[in-house]
Amino acid sequence: YGSSNQKTDYVFKVVLIGDSAVGKSQILSRFSRNEFSLDSKATIGVEFQTRTMVIQHKSVKAQIWDTAGQERYRAVTSAYYRGAVGAMLVYDITKRPTFEHIPRWLEELRAHADKNIVIILIGNKSDLEDQRAVPTEDAKEFAEKEGLFFLETSALEATNVEEAFVTVLTEIF
Ligand code: GTP
Ligand code: MG
Repeated sequence: YGSSNQKTDYVFKVVLIGDSAVGKSQILSRFSRNEFSLDSKATIGVEFQTRTMVIQHKSVKAQIWDTAGQERYRAVTSAYYRGAVGAMLVYDITKRPTFEHIPRWLEELRAHADKNIVIILIGNKSDLEDQRAVPTEDAKEFAEKEGLFFLETSALEATNVEEAFVTVLTEIF
């Protein structure tokens, strides 16, 4: 998983944001190590993981930053966004408030990040279809209006996680 002794053509910083417990850290864990944990602890401060992928015949090192959704545990905002070329805005499809907070996250992102940053809206926990509280159409409509990419993912089942990162990395490229 990932390749260490190969030359890197590009390093792209991508940030994960969204409310606490939507699954940001597990999306990252699935992408970087192909691991998932049901008893994931709330993130404190900031963490990052990398994974190198080949995109359009170039070796791209994705450096993915993850911070706490909880205000009191969050990293310093300006440092977190500095140099980021991609952002993943995550909500939980079973928790309506996490979707309703997305405009606030988008505002923070637009205030601190580069104006050309590539953004994908992610509705995570698609495996919990029976508890769905956010219709796919609502999110799709919002994403279109705001000019964001959009995918529903499941870190648990490994659905669309890879696709979400590839979408962002390819567009940055
Ligand atoms: P903070 O670090 O507090 O901001 O939270 P977070 O967004 O990083 O959430 P985290 O990844 O820690 O996941 C929160 C809980 O949701 C954990 O119990 C995870 O196991 C669970 N979870 C994450 N992704 C999924 C998923 O795709 N499906 C299901 N069913 N549970 C998930
Ligand atoms: Mg976390």
